[in-house]
Amino acid sequence: MLIKILGAAAGGGFPQWNCNAATSRAAWSNAAGVKPCTQSSLAISADGDRWILLNASPDIRQQIAATQALHPRAKGTLRNSPIQAVVLTNADVDHVAGLLSLRERHPLTIYGSSRVLDVLAANSIFNVLHPDHVTRRPLVLGEPNAIAHHGRYLGITVEPFGVPGKIALYLEDAAAGPGLGTREGDTIGLKVTATATGHAFYYLPACAAVDAGLRQRLRGSSLVFFDGTLFTDDELVKQGLSDKTGARMGHISMAGPDGAMAAFADLDVARRIFIHINTSNPAWIEGSPERREIEAAGWEIACDGMEVRL
Ligand code: MLT
Ligand code: MN
Repeated sequence: MLIKILGAAAGGGFPQWNCNAATSRAAWSNAAGVKPCTQSSLAISADGDRWILLNASPDIRQQIAATQALHPRAKGTLRNSPIQAVVLTNADVDHVAGLLSLRERHPLTIYGSSRVLDVLAANSIFNVLHPDHVTRRPLVLGEPNAIAHHGRYLGITVEPFGVPGKIALYLEDAAAGPGLGTREGDTIGLKVTATATGHAFYYLPACAAVDAGLRQRLRGSSLVFFDGTLFTDDELVKQGLSDKTGARMGHISMAGPDGAMAAFADLDVARRIFIHINTSNPAWIEGSPERREIEAAGWEIACDGMEVRL
């Protein structure tokens, strides 16, 4: 199975369009050891020919342009794309807005939890993905779902499972209590398996906590892409960017006793890669103390164009 990191950054990208704080400024000024990145998305393929997107970011056009494997095939028909299907892990803007760029009456299959598909159904702008051509399929949580397009299996199954998290920002309901209206299916993680080889990896671009169930699931796995939104929970507050903590945003932080690095310390995961990294996160800066701490803990920082072969 081929995995291409199309976008490693969280919502807004790196640098975010309106951000002038230190880490973003380093990217705006092309500082050494700082690589700008687009918004969170992976492309995967069992055969190198037919591709599945995991989330569709607002930067999708730029991501396709930068990735030759996703260009229309020169020997194909006048309108063609190797992208066959999209699997969504939540309804965040950074994960669904790219669907709007996949219009032009092109055949495609979109998978998501019923909860996320309901969000698409409630927003008529997504009807630019014309139902005559684009099929929406609900994922069954807790079971392997065969990913197919037009009845042809693409050689990959995804097992979606609920993870601690939050409803999309624009759907938050303050009147609904502390959960803001969050329900099952608002945030899922994926176990992605190639049938031919049995090789599997996990993809969790949003996760608020590593609970006992998640620990059990991830233990001993060979590769996990995991929510790296913030380095510390109060990073946005300390930098004067926002009054929101990571916990309020539905994202575990990388560092600290309640952070991802500590949670994974005894999970025996062979390869751990942070993804969905916010523009404020000092982990972006090569050689920074935070980056060194991450690397010392055995983690990698994803970047656009990174590839993994499983
Ligand atoms: C998030 O990951 O918290 C969201 O993408 C935030 C947003 O929608 O801006
Ligand atoms: Mn996001």
